[in-house]
Amino acid sequence: MNILGISGSLRQASFNTALLYTARELAPAGMNITIHRLHDLPLFDQDVEEQGDPVPVTALKQAIEAADGLLLACPEYNGGITGVLKNAVDWASRIGKGRKVAALTGKMVCIIGASPGITGTVRAQDQLRLVLRRAGARTEPQGDVLVFQAHTKIVDGRLGDERTRDALGRHLQGFAERLAATAG
Ligand SMILES: Cc1cc2nc3c(=O)[nH]c(=O)nc-3n(C[C@H](O)[C@H](O)[C@H](O)COP(=O)(O)O)c2cc1C
Repeated sequence: MNILGISGSLRQASFNTALLYTARELAPAGMNITIHRLHDLPLFDQDVEEQGDPVPVTALKQAIEAADGLLLACPEYNGGITGVLKNAVDWASRIGKGRKVAALTGKMVCIIGASPGITGTVRAQDQLRLVLRRAGARTEPQGDVLVFQAHTKIVDGRLGDERTRDALGRHLQGFAERLAATAG
């Protein structure tokens, strides 16, 4: 089971990227999480798209297509998803030249997120779920992993909080089971 992990933060010391790496560590047997960076992805421009996808866009679409499911680490900016993540979803929601369907179509997505705030990334995650559905992806039916007060739990890029690690591990296990149940 190949899962593509994407962080909506470009920040070097990002809590969300750290959460993604922890997910890779805690993934159940048989689940392999590959992390795809968005640093090179250009801003969506329909004029550019009409000329053909730039290399980083093709790389993103191919990585999504090759994955059995996506794991998105979703930071919260101003009560919503980051421009970085929305930009990636916008590109991947488009068919583009030489494809029959968009990379996101029908893709199963699991959402996680971390914020130093006390409400975690609940608003951004709700927004992301709506955006993904609109883009044709399938989101997990059950609650997502919300890491609030992340600065107290993720230190030097490591999630040390045992309760959160347990919750993340269980969440990934549930995702693996649902993916297996929906696979052919
Ligand atoms: C422009 C901006 C807006 C933010 N708005 C929110 C917010 O609405 N809710 C929240 O919990 N944190 C907010 N934050 C704080 C982020 O959660 C925090 O910077 C977090 O570390 C970003 O995720 P990262 O560590 O993965 O980069 C905001 C940060 C920035 C830079």
